[in-house]
Amino acid sequence: MSLVTKENTPMSDSRTKEAPPTQDHVTVTDHRTGREYDLPITDGTINALELRQIKVNEDDFGLMTYDPGFSNTASCRSSVTFIDGEKGILRYRGYPIEQLAEQSNYLETAWLLIFGRLPTATELQEWEAEISRHTLIHENVRHFINAFRYDAHPMVMLISTVASLSTFYKEASDISNPEIRRLQMIRLIAKMPTLAAFAYRHSLGHRYTYPNNQLSYIGNFLTMLFNLNDRDFRPDPVLEQALNLLFILHADHEQNCSTNAMRSVGSSRVDPYCSIAAATAALYGPLHGGANEAVLRMLAEIGSVDKIPAFMKSVKAGERRLMGFGHRVYKNYDPRAKIIKEMAHQVFRVTGKNELLDIALELEKIALQDEYFVDRKLYPNVDFYSGLIYQAMGFPTTMFPVLFAIPRTCGWLAQWEEMQGDPANRISRPRQIYTGSDEVDYVPLEQRGS
Ligand code: ACO
Repeated sequence: MSLVTKENTPMSDSRTKEAPPTQDHVTVTDHRTGREYDLPITDGTINALELRQIKVNEDDFGLMTYDPGFSNTASCRSSVTFIDGEKGILRYRGYPIEQLAEQSNYLETAWLLIFGRLPTATELQEWEAEISRHTLIHENVRHFINAFRYDAHPMVMLISTVASLSTFYKEASDISNPEIRRLQMIRLIAKMPTLAAFAYRHSLGHRYTYPNNQLSYIGNFLTMLFNLNDRDFRPDPVLEQALNLLFILHADHEQNCSTNAMRSVGSSRVDPYCSIAAATAALYGPLHGGANEAVLRMLAEIGSVDKIPAFMKSVKAGERRLMGFGHRVYKNYDPRAKIIKEMAHQVFRVTGKNELLDIALELEKIALQDEYFVDRKLYPNVDFYSGLIYQAMGFPTTMFPVLFAIPRTCGWLAQWEEMQGDPANRISRPRQIYTGSDEVDYVPLEQRGS
């Protein structure tokens, strides 16, 4: 499609002549017909349905866009999260991630994302109390977890058990009722850590530690994970704070693959447990929630600082990628990576230094000066340091995507809740370019040859 001025246009369509051009519009000339169309521009976008009027004849379906991976398609209007990838900016409901990381806690951030503003002290207190009242899971869910094989991946246990909650809360299917929606959001935020901790304990063959409402959200999660049999167990406050920070940083990231899954599946009006299961499944993929594990594998494979030059040579030759570097949206330092890097040192003071840290720091130093990475705007992303921290805290790599899914639950829910109130919301149903054969007649089996 090319754009030309009206003067150059041989013939104009009557509809477009009648429609007064808006102040912000783009003029499109269809060179198949010579017709010209004025398409309104709103918020830097054109409505894809406007293209349907561009036809060769009345039988023509009309023009569509082709955008696999949605690289240049806005699928919704959203006021939840803002990202400026060129400048390295991330804001939840307008609040810079740096300020939230320094001053907020995870449950307050979850409230902010879902309800659109910071809670009052009373609202926050009630919210925290409500969440802690819903951390228990039905005993039958525990039985499901028991039934998994000893080596079942905890992320798949999480996907399955979160979907199973739908069978315990039948009212959840009434998604038109705001009070019912609110209760399910509370249940989901409250129960995800319990499901995750039980899945982890199952993989170790250890009995479960039940949730303790007296503890903070993060403190309770760490206790369910790591307290084996100690009545006085208290998680280290530095590690609790570090996980709180990591949870804030992972709470939302606008229309990524798993959020798109949440919205797309949720658009069918299924209950939120099923939609969260779908979003969690999307996050399980190595291109989405699995990159920090790949970073650890890469650092272990490099093994020592003196092997870095040879490794970088192979990256620059295009033989492999520097994992934890580069991002589809950020063409600058990922603001989350900056915060995580600073926090890593505090964690290592408690846990002892992760021996792979020196390799990571040296890789980053070299990459930030190297023409290959500078020219391509490749900077560390959120995954470059997070895996090192999780590993130092004692988590096996199989738990990494689970540690992503728990905090992202509030982001998925915020986006889902926003969608419920959006009058433009319709079931997600993309179009296709059909590449198969034209109509053919059925051939009976005996006539098909060998
Ligand atoms: N190491 C080396 N070169 C890279 C890297 C990297 N990590 N990332 C991109 N490049 C190069 C590409 O080879 C390409 O070079 P070319 O122009 O010479 O062909 C150029 O940079 C552009 O790369 P694309 O693949 O087009 O960038 P895209 O936006 O599609 O990919 C992605 C983004 C997938 C994140 C990519 O940077 C990557 O594979 N990074 C490593 C994996 C990773 O860390 N993923 C986590 C992302 S954060 C998250 O999901 C939570």
